[in-house]
Amino acid sequence: MSSSSAESSGKFSITTPIYYVNASPHIGHAYTTVLADVLVRGHRALGQSAFFLTGTDEHGQKVYEAAKREGCTPLEHADKTHVRFKELWERLGIQYDDFIRTTEPRHTAVVAEILQDLYDRELIYAGDYEGWYSVSEERFYTEKDLVDGKSPEGKPVEKIVEKNYFFKMSAYQDWLIQYIEENPDFIRPEKRRNETLGYLKKPLGDLCISRPKTRLPWGIELPFDRDYVCYVWFDALVNYISAIGYRRDDEQFNRWWPASVQLLGKDILTTHTVYWPTMLRAMGVEMPKSFFAHGWWLIDGEKMAKSVGNVVDPMDTIALYGVDSLRYYLMAAMNPGSDATFTEGHFIERFNTDLANDLGNLTSRVSKMTKKSCGGVIPPRGDVGEEEALVEKAANEAIDAMRRAYERVELDRGIAAVLGLVRETNRYFDKKRPWELANSGDTAGIGTVMNIAADAVRIAGGLLDPVMPQKMAELRKTLGFGEKAPTFDELAWGRIEAGQKIGEAVSLFPRIVDEKKKDAKQGGKKDGKKSAKGEAKPAGPKNEAGEGLVDIESFFQTKLCTARVVEAEPVPKADKLLRLQVDVGSETRQLVAGIAEFYGPDELVGRTIVVVKNLKPAKIRGVESRGMLLATKGKDGPKLVTIDGDVEPGTPIG
Ligand code: MSP
Repeated sequence: MSSSSAESSGKFSITTPIYYVNASPHIGHAYTTVLADVLVRGHRALGQSAFFLTGTDEHGQKVYEAAKREGCTPLEHADKTHVRFKELWERLGIQYDDFIRTTEPRHTAVVAEILQDLYDRELIYAGDYEGWYSVSEERFYTEKDLVDGKSPEGKPVEKIVEKNYFFKMSAYQDWLIQYIEENPDFIRPEKRRNETLGYLKKPLGDLCISRPKTRLPWGIELPFDRDYVCYVWFDALVNYISAIGYRRDDEQFNRWWPASVQLLGKDILTTHTVYWPTMLRAMGVEMPKSFFAHGWWLIDGEKMAKSVGNVVDPMDTIALYGVDSLRYYLMAAMNPGSDATFTEGHFIERFNTDLANDLGNLTSRVSKMTKKSCGGVIPPRGDVGEEEALVEKAANEAIDAMRRAYERVELDRGIAAVLGLVRETNRYFDKKRPWELANSGDTAGIGTVMNIAADAVRIAGGLLDPVMPQKMAELRKTLGFGEKAPTFDELAWGRIEAGQKIGEAVSLFPRIVDEKKKDAKQGGKKDGKKSAKGEAKPAGPKNEAGEGLVDIESFFQTKLCTARVVEAEPVPKADKLLRLQVDVGSETRQLVAGIAEFYGPDELVGRTIVVVKNLKPAKIRGVESRGMLLATKGKDGPKLVTIDGDVEPGTPIG
C-alpha cells in the first residue's frame, strides 16, 4: 500500500487540489482540507515526518470573468479572494506546511520552463483545434463527449476552431494503462481506478494546452509564442511540484516528491489521473504514490451550487457549533469513497449521540468519580477479569482501526471503532457501578474500574486528537493526561500512569438543542391530536386527495439511490422471490424481491434500478435483505422503477 510504504520510509506527504479563487470556500472544500489535515496529524502520530501542501488556482477563464464582473484586474481579484481560503483554514485549525498561489513567480517561472522544455523536445506542437468548449468548466469536449448538445455535466458549450498548441498525451496511453494495472493502489478507491481505466479504453487524444490571448488574456504566457497563455489545468497541476522546489531546490524536492497521497474530488479524476501522470512522464518525473478521489457532500441529495442557493458556508457552521464539531462531523459522517448528505439535523444528531452522550458523558463520569471517590488521582489497577478484557479488546481494535484509517483513508471506520471503545467503556461502567463499590468501601475494586475507564478515555482521546485537536487537548487537561498529543506508541493499552492527578472537570460537549425539532414537537403538541399511545401526534396538513403532506426533510430521511443488479437468482422453495446482489456505489448488497413470477434472473442482471438504501435489514424466508427495490403495479404484474439514461450506481435520488 502506498502510504504504508511512506510509513516504512518514515515520511508522508499530502496535497489537496488548489481551489479556484472565484468562489467562496464551502463545506466541500473544507472537507478535502480537513481530511488532509487529519491524515497529516495522524501520520505524525504514527511517528513520520510529514508535509502538507495546499493553495489556490488563480488563472483561467473563471477567475478572469469574475474579475471583469467586479471591475478589477484578475490579480487584484485573486489577491483579495485567496485570503478567504487562508482565513477558513486558520479557523479550522489546518496546519498546512505550504500554501501556493499559481500567480507566484516561484510557480509561473517553473511552468514556463516546463513548457519550453516540452516544446524543444517536440512533445508540445502547434496544430488546428476544433472542438466544443465549456466556459464554466474550462474544458474542451469532442463531439462524441457531448450529451444533448451540452457537456456531460450539462453545461453549455460553444464550437471553436483555432490554432493552438498540443501536448502529445496520446503517446503515453499504453504506458499509463500498464502503469495503473501494475500499481493497484495508484488510484483509490477501486471504483475510481476502474473509472480511469474505462476512460482509457477510448483512444486518448493530445491535450490542447494553450488559449489564444485574444480569447483569454489571463494566464501564464507560452515562452515560445507570446500570443498564447497556458491552459489553466496544465498550469495548475504543476503546483504540486513547483511548490516543493522542482528545478529549483533538489534537496527539498527529493524529500517530498513523490507525494504519498494526492487528494481530489471525484469530479477532477481525469485531470489528475490521466493528464497529470502523462505530464509527469513527459517531464521524466516520478509518479505520485497514490491518488485518493473522494465523493461529494450533497445538500438534500443535490450538488452545492450558488445558483441553487444551497451552499453551506463552513464559517456559519463553526460559529454555531464550534470548529471541532464540524471537523468531527465531516470525518465521521462520510465514507470517503461515496457521496454523503450534509444536513443540520443529522449534524446535531451525530454530535449529541457520539460526542455529548458517549464521549462527553464518559469523560465527565471518569473525572467526577475520580474526584469524588479516588481523591482526584488515577488509582492503581488491581485484578482484572473478563469484563476488563472486553474494554481492552475494544481499545486494541480502535487503535488498529485508526492506524488503518490513516493508511487507507477510511476515517469514518476508524472513528466508528473509537466510538465502539467509548460505548464499551460506558457499558463497563454501568455494569460495575463504581458508586456502589465506593459506598461499600471496596477501594481496590473502584480503583480498577476507574483506572480501566480512564485508560480507555486516554486512548479514545488520543486517537481522536487529529480529528478534534482543540477538544482533545481540553480532554487531556481535564484528566491530567499532559499537554502533548500522544503518539501511537504511547497510546498502547495499560500505559496510563496511576498516581497522576486529574484536572478541573469541564463539560466538553454540551448537548445541542435542535431548535427545528423542538419547534416541530411543540407545534405538534399545540395542534395535534393524542394518539393511541397517548403521545401528541400532529394532525398535519393534507393535500386534496387527503394524503398527509411531508416536508422535504422528512422525505429525504428515506434514502433512495440507483443500484446496478450484479447477480440474480431464485430463492429456493420460494416461487415468488429473487435474491439480488446490487451495486449501490459504496458496496454490493443483497436484496430479496417478490418479483420472480414476472422477471427472470437474466433479465435483471446489468439493469439499473432504484432502491431504498436505509431500510432496516429484514429476513425474508430466512434470507437477509438489506434494502428494497422500487416497483409499481403494471397491467400484467409489477414493473420495476428504472432510470432513463446512464447513471452511476449509488447516485442519490431526489
Ligand atoms: N482548481 C481546480 C483544482 C485544480 S488542482 C490542480 C478545482 N477547484 S475547485 O475549487 O472547484 O474544487 C476543488 C476541490 O473541491 C475538488 O476536489 C472538488 O471535488 C472539491 N469539491 C467541490 N465541491 C465539493 C463538494 N460538494 N463535496 C466535496 N468536495 C467538493 O477543481
